[in-house]
Amino acid sequence: MRFMDRVAIITGAGRGIGKAVARQMSAEGGTVVIADINAERGDATAVDIGGSCFSVRTDISDPSSVAALHHSVAERCGKLDIVINNASLVPYQKWEDITFADWRKILSVDLDGVFLMCKESSNMMRKNSYGRIVNISSNTVMLGTPNLTHYVAAKGGVYAFTRALATELGKYGITVNNICPGLTDTDANWETPHHEAFDLVEGMQALKGRAKPQYHVPSILFLASEESHWVTGSTVVTDAGHTRH
Ligand SMILES: NC(=O)c1ccc[n+]([C@@H]2O[C@H](COP(=O)([O-])OP(=O)(O)OC[C@H]3O[C@@H](n4cnc5c(N)ncnc54)[C@H](O)[C@@H]3O)[C@@H](O)[C@H]2O)c1
Repeated sequence: MRFMDRVAIITGAGRGIGKAVARQMSAEGGTVVIADINAERGDATAVDIGGSCFSVRTDISDPSSVAALHHSVAERCGKLDIVINNASLVPYQKWEDITFADWRKILSVDLDGVFLMCKESSNMMRKNSYGRIVNISSNTVMLGTPNLTHYVAAKGGVYAFTRALATELGKYGITVNNICPGLTDTDANWETPHHEAFDLVEGMQALKGRAKPQYHVPSILFLASEESHWVTGSTVVTDAGHTRH
């Protein structure tokens, strides 16, 4: 029971990769807070997972919503040990069609949201001189995948921010690491034409098959656990060797 007595916030855990992480962390004893903008989805996932899992409707791009989330966790749980910054908007837009408003919308959730979460969370974690922050970026940062310029820019920001924040927070006993998943079989990809790339991507992977959300869970939970105490500012790429490092 790696997460017994640990309190974790997982953003965007109403479905997809975040939900898979929430389910496994809860099974390993953690108190999991689902922070999703879609309240119905977040609540349903919390009921489905059961145990001490609960949901707080949160918009990570809104400073007051992020502050309210942390206030609620402080009141209900008394502390915060782990944050998985997983919530994100996954667009599909040609460069020629992207307006400044589109750019700001993606950046406000996919990058500003990670900043706002880290700011509030690290303030809580510092009180116990312990913390694990795991940011979910993307292997599109290495690939420069088409129809995603704003998303790739935001995820590249998350990738770099992870390193810089690890430098700042090490003295408080807080680690900050980054996961770059590859293309995965989630609703986000079925709601956009991204799913049309499944076969192409599989062909480029060193390991064959189509990623399911749970394939990323072991790497994320390692970085969220006490076992990763000597790892910070690092990136783990979970993409079956699509990009090789
Ligand atoms: N699925 C992939 O192929 C893939 C590949 C690389 C990286 N990723 C990254 O992995 C993470 C999870 O991806 P997924 O496919 O499971 O996503 P998803 O779209 O299935 O789930 C994301 C969740 O985030 C929530 N959300 C959106 N905006 C929010 C906001 N402002 N505040 C709080 N919650 C918000 C949504 O309601 C949704 O439940 C994302 O960061 C994504 O960029 C995914």
